[in-house]
Amino acid sequence: MRTPIMAANWKMQKTADETAAFLAGFLPLVETTADVEIVIAPPFTSLDRASQQLRNASVHLSAQNVSNEEKGAFTGEISVSMLQEFSCTYTIVGHSERRGLYGETDTLISQKAAMLLSHEILPIVCVGETLEEREADRTFDVLRTQLSGSLAGVPAERVPEIVIAYEPVWAIGTGKTATPEIAQEAHAFIRRELVASWGESGQQTRIQYGGSVKPENVFDLMKCPDIDGALVGGASLEPDSFSKIVHFEQQGGE
Ligand code: 13P
Repeated sequence: MRTPIMAANWKMQKTADETAAFLAGFLPLVETTADVEIVIAPPFTSLDRASQQLRNASVHLSAQNVSNEEKGAFTGEISVSMLQEFSCTYTIVGHSERRGLYGETDTLISQKAAMLLSHEILPIVCVGETLEEREADRTFDVLRTQLSGSLAGVPAERVPEIVIAYEPVWAIGTGKTATPEIAQEAHAFIRRELVASWGESGQQTRIQYGGSVKPENVFDLMKCPDIDGALVGGASLEPDSFSKIVHFEQQGGE
């Protein structure tokens, strides 16, 4: 049984004050939810305030990135022990914006995932193809390469704990969601790859879909057998919208 995991990736949006205002509005809307895991990934500068506000809440905190190095002369970087101070349960690694805009490679992402696991923070490892790659019929090759490269540093026994986010780049911030069929096909492929590499424990790994998820499409996506949650950008920025996504079961038939 895989508990659905709904995560908000705010990217470079919301100051600490804005984060506090969001949480003040959001927490009363979701406090009773126990059968779904809720995760908020604000910018680094909001982690301190958010961790205080979430102290007695059942909402988990995530960072959006981490250094692959433990400590030292790495100007501008944030280490895993710095994230531990704010009780981060998760940290996103390998988002397509980091891969595309900042040149992050599968090797670097795998080092970050291993660094997080060795400090008991769970990585949310993002993979996904560009439109060009999909149109050239290379989606599965790209996913296979990204998965094997990005998970190379993950010990086999930790595979059930990590989260994979399938985020087709063409669906991110475009309003162009993958259809449930397209998403399920990719998720089933990812599941098969996990099982092929790590055996049956790959059945326990949760695979989130990300890319223009909103209250109107979350129900149909979550009905797919291999979609275990969502990683949400734009539609996670307002308490009302993200709480509807968290309560995805109530969105059917709307
Ligand atoms: P949008 O939901 O804005 O498309 O962003 C998806 C995403 O990149 C989440 O990590």
